[in-house]
Amino acid sequence: MRVIEGFFCIPNPILSITYRRAIQARKRVAEALSLVVRERRMERERGITKNDMLAALFESDGDGSGIGFSDDEIVDFLVSLLVAGYDTTSTTITLAVKFLTDTPLALAQLKQEHDEIWAKKTASVSLEWEDYKSMPFTQCVINETLRVSNIISGVFRRTMTDVDIKGYTIPKGSKVFTSLRAVHLDQENFKDARVFNPWRWQKPLDSSNFMPFGGGPRRCPGHELARVALSVFLHHLVTRFSWEPAEEDKLVFFPTTRTQKRYPIIVQRRSCVKTR
Ligand code: HEM
Repeated sequence: MRVIEGFFCIPNPILSITYRRAIQARKRVAEALSLVVRERRMERERGITKNDMLAALFESDGDGSGIGFSDDEIVDFLVSLLVAGYDTTSTTITLAVKFLTDTPLALAQLKQEHDEIWAKKTASVSLEWEDYKSMPFTQCVINETLRVSNIISGVFRRTMTDVDIKGYTIPKGSKVFTSLRAVHLDQENFKDARVFNPWRWQKPLDSSNFMPFGGGPRRCPGHELARVALSVFLHHLVTRFSWEPAEEDKLVFFPTTRTQKRYPIIVQRRSCVKTR
């Protein structure tokens, strides 16, 4: 969280306490990861191998020079992945829970979808790919959460040539900020654009107006993983628990989109459901 806050402040350690804290937080995370990377490299030298992402990074040839990634490069990669993948997904989960709580009809429909999936399963069998593929309303909820509260408000690009667009020329070499939020909350693209309405996704919509994961070659590589994580979380939450907000909370959009108090909830196990 502190690392991410550092993206939205004056990048000067003397002028900004947020920036100083972000640098310190990044250093602590990197130190913890360095220990793991060092231990795993030593294990590897002793012939102990594992089949995971770290093993793939050790084996990778990096830029093709035959040298492979150094420990520092691997740690840098892991920090980037944590920053890009962790807070984005957990914040979107929190926002989905808030929208569902505020929209009881949507919550009821979601519960029904997941209760039906669960009813077909025996206690020992966990969710499978086929189950994930039979959650159409869940995907509507996820799309609508990403649309209304786009946690990445936009993406930067640099023009490689002069670009003509709607009578304007953006000169080669310009830095352009593409506001995803402006597109997602434009009334011309989505009726009642600020209202959380997951049912709007039951009809085909123009996908070029919906880019929560960016676009082009730099599109978020974690987009499908994030959708699966959200779907699985919602499945377990709604089939096992009911909840109510612990206190009033609201959405804030600056410096990042989130709930002001992290939306604490009081959960209770649902009594009518089978135990696992
Ligand atoms: C709800 C969750 C997520 C959202 C909304 C999201 C959104 C985005 C966006 C908008 C970008 C910029 C894309 C562009 O420039 O066109 C991005 C980049 C990226 N995301 Fe995600 N992301 C999410 C989850 C994840 C996850 C789970 C991972 C990995 C585990 C991940 C890894 C990355 C990486 C590595 C990049 C940089 C890609 C590049 O620059 O080539 N993201 N994400």
